[in-house]
Amino acid sequence: MKAVKIADKVFWIGANVHSEDLFEGIWPIPNGIALNSYVIKANKVAVIELVREWGGASMSFIESLRSLNLTLKDVDFIILNHLEPDHTGFAHILKSLSPKAKFVTTEKGAALLDGFYGIDENIMVVKSGDKVDLGENKSLEFIEIPHVHWPETMASYEEDSKILFSGDAFGAFGVHQGSIFDDQTPEVNKPYWEQEMLRYYANIIAMFSPNVIKAIDALAQFKINAIAPSHGLIWRGKPEVVIKKYSRYANYNKDFAEPEICVVWGSMYGNTEAMLNAILKGIASEGIYIHIHRVPNEEPSFILADAYKSAGLIIGAPTYEYSMFPPMKYLLELLQKKHMWHKKVIYFGSYGWSGGAQKDFNALSEHMNWDIIEQLVFKGHPTVQDLNKGEEIAKKFAQSILEIPSKIKDEDY
Ligand code: FEO
Repeated sequence: MKAVKIADKVFWIGANVHSEDLFEGIWPIPNGIALNSYVIKANKVAVIELVREWGGASMSFIESLRSLNLTLKDVDFIILNHLEPDHTGFAHILKSLSPKAKFVTTEKGAALLDGFYGIDENIMVVKSGDKVDLGENKSLEFIEIPHVHWPETMASYEEDSKILFSGDAFGAFGVHQGSIFDDQTPEVNKPYWEQEMLRYYANIIAMFSPNVIKAIDALAQFKINAIAPSHGLIWRGKPEVVIKKYSRYANYNKDFAEPEICVVWGSMYGNTEAMLNAILKGIASEGIYIHIHRVPNEEPSFILADAYKSAGLIIGAPTYEYSMFPPMKYLLELLQKKHMWHKKVIYFGSYGWSGGAQKDFNALSEHMNWDIIEQLVFKGHPTVQDLNKGEEIAKKFAQSILEIPSKIKDEDY
């Protein structure tokens, strides 16, 4: 790959990875993922974020450096904003191939560098406000933004170009589609990035939302011309818009999210599905935006994105051998783990010889600040009265969700 110029002496040297692998071993990436690395080529050479060896990423990284007449031996500083191995997997190779380079990270990052790669020398430990001078008017200032995503995370700010290298913050799943920049992205491709950014947030960042809010506050003191995250697009057209969008995401688990409903259902023999149809009829009569997902047929990664964004959540699943239908139990555990809080919720489901799903639902939803509007549990197939009740409850539920104001403003796009 050829390096892509972002600003004077600042270049993208990352890689677009297409892989059948799951990200973090859990999350599907049918659109691949961009591992963004950057280099500042001044008197001193600083590489910001690395890649891991994945789908040719490390070779692409080396070739991009070569396109700038640089080799790994020329690197003076390796800035590790975040130690997760998607950005550091190449570190142990650079340890020998970039002998003069110093690894720059926070104190917690240094411990992880040792733990993951056995690197315990040539490390510069930094904290908020520390700077590295690269000469030729280029410098980097570091800002600790813990838990966006891991506890050691920091961002790096280049004052001359006013570029913020933000780590996972403001990132997205998905490879670049012909351009690394938001302002070169055609309108038709914007929904791709919107969806992949939300999915990345819901899957990876959501549980750290209070830290995201603190990080946005900490970064407000900097004049930012461009945001260069470690995944996804570089935001240089309207960086303030992506900051607002991220702030909106971070607040989705603090208060009710968007006036939309996410319906997640599973059914063994069509009895829970019969109630699903009654409920959908009730919701549809109100004209509200509905996302419908079936488990286990659909990947939780995509369900989490829609569930996170929706103020209304409807969970339909039967009892399976004295407990919750297992794929729904897994999904509920993920909703709990990812802090998908503050939702209005309906649960419904069928049981045969005994119940059990409702008990699991109550236990798993206990600490999520959910406003549980109704639980519809029925033996075997729902009666006509059950179905009428389900339709009526769903209609009122949709009306209550529609009263929640949308957080999306026109200027967000
Ligand atoms: Fe892209 Fe948290 O690593």
